[in-house]
Amino acid sequence: MDELLRPRLLWCFGLLVVLVSVSLGLLHPAAPQLVFPAIIMGFVLWCTAIRRHLLFSTVGCVVLLLMVQVALPGSVGLGETLVTTILFASIAVAFAYIRANGLAATDRACEIAERMESQARSYADEIARSEVRYATLFSDMNHAHAEQDISEAKRMIDEAKTNGATSFERLAAENPEFIDRCLAAVKVNRVNDALLNMMGYADHAELVAKPPTENAVDSRRVMQEQLHAMFDGRHHFASTATLIGKDNRKVTVAVGVNVPDDWSVSLSTHIDITEQLRDREAILSAREDLARASRALAVGAISTTLSHELNQPLLAIGLGTKSAERWLERTPPRLEEVARSLEGIRLNADRMSAIIRNTRDKLVKGAKELSRVDLRQLLTETSYVLEGDLAARRSRMQLSLDDDAIEVMADRTDIQQVFINLITNAADAMAQVECERIVTIASHRSTEQRLTIEVSDNGPGISDENLKLVFQPFFSTKSGGMGMGLQICRSIIESFGGTLNVRNNQGRGATFIISLPLPPASDTGQAP
Ligand SMILES: Nc1ncnc2c1ncn2[C@@H]1O[C@H](COP(=O)(O)OP(=O)(O)OP(=O)(O)O)[C@@H](O)[C@H]1O
Ligand SMILES: [Mg+2]
Repeated sequence: MDELLRPRLLWCFGLLVVLVSVSLGLLHPAAPQLVFPAIIMGFVLWCTAIRRHLLFSTVGCVVLLLMVQVALPGSVGLGETLVTTILFASIAVAFAYIRANGLAATDRACEIAERMESQARSYADEIARSEVRYATLFSDMNHAHAEQDISEAKRMIDEAKTNGATSFERLAAENPEFIDRCLAAVKVNRVNDALLNMMGYADHAELVAKPPTENAVDSRRVMQEQLHAMFDGRHHFASTATLIGKDNRKVTVAVGVNVPDDWSVSLSTHIDITEQLRDREAILSAREDLARASRALAVGAISTTLSHELNQPLLAIGLGTKSAERWLERTPPRLEEVARSLEGIRLNADRMSAIIRNTRDKLVKGAKELSRVDLRQLLTETSYVLEGDLAARRSRMQLSLDDDAIEVMADRTDIQQVFINLITNAADAMAQVECERIVTIASHRSTEQRLTIEVSDNGPGISDENLKLVFQPFFSTKSGGMGMGLQICRSIIESFGGTLNVRNNQGRGATFIISLPLPPASDTGQAP
């Protein structure tokens, strides 16, 4: 039986017993005399039963009846008094017993109920207090917040998963109406003042009433991202959106969405990034201008380099053609010499196409991979290329390469370009000297990791004043010089991780010193 119902029944039963005993007292032949004591006794019983003092109840009855006997002698016989007393006493005992049990249970139940009620009240108070705290925080936050009811959308998504959906992308692609229904199920619960201000509204209700799908230019995308997060069980996601405010004003925001564990609501935070975006666009456009300008500059530099580098082989081809013609004019024509001149022309033409190819590769691919270059082989080939030039200046090349300083890591065409520029400069410098005109190219290991190549001549050397200027672009002391050769050489050597410097010799002439890292030991023997 119900824990609460039983004591109540016992209570009713006890009351019934009291009423019956009072009625019995009234129905007794000595009824009129018994009315007064019976009522008093009933009352005493009632009170004592309530208080559960059994002994007091019984003694009280006896004392009362005796007092009635003394006050109204002869009104009630002694035997009747005793019978009535015993009757009432046993009823009182029974009643008190029932009552005691009933009341104890009732009290316990009431006590439990009261405790539960007070606990429930305190929980309700706490919930109310925290709701007030949350609402205050929510509305007073400086950042813009919105709370959306997503419970129905989450239920629909879960149902779709139960029905076999495994990928949100596929679900969205195959069932766009389902996505529409999910989006329509999302409702705005509340927004705070900051969001209201940001979107230019004055009335909370007006913004809350607007369907979330109409709140942003890209709301479908953002909300779909939210559904995706729900599908994946992610409680957080971040995105950007362009909100549509009052009077169609657009506010670009960074959005962060958090969902509590019960998936009932989503709390979104919106940070206005319109200004930052505008700044970023300005920076991007400035960067583009800068990139355009640097590209123009690079193209200018490349065309300068190209015209400089193509100039030398072109001159060599011109010279080679002239000497071939001269050998042909001889009688009989010196065909061997003609063939030699033609070979020189071919080598220079090859060089020109290599320079053009190299320049195009630099433009398209950027930095190139370096490979192992055999200096002896390269310089021998270079001496053929420059044969005509050097002969015209009555100069010659001389190699002095150490065996352990034969290879460098470089781009073949580029490093040949460096040697051609340095040798041509040396030949130019020696053009006026009377002694033997020799360009010496020597190499040796300068340290464990580096190799030095020196290109020296016995010309007049470089004045102290010009020593600082020779590597500057467009510095030239020659009437037809561009002043680009040394600048190009230095940037090529630096691109291989090396350095290029100059010093005057002890005796005559100048020496250009190239320092390069040695090729890695493991690569030894893999000449290109
Ligand atoms: N071996 C050298 N001896 C003396 N002076 C030199 C030597 N090499 C270069 N110079 C000086 O450095 C200057 C710059 O040389 P650079 O190769 O950069 O330009 P250029 O030879 O004048 O013209 P171009 O751009 O056609 O090569 C030369 O004009 C010359 O005065
Ligand atoms: Mg030069």
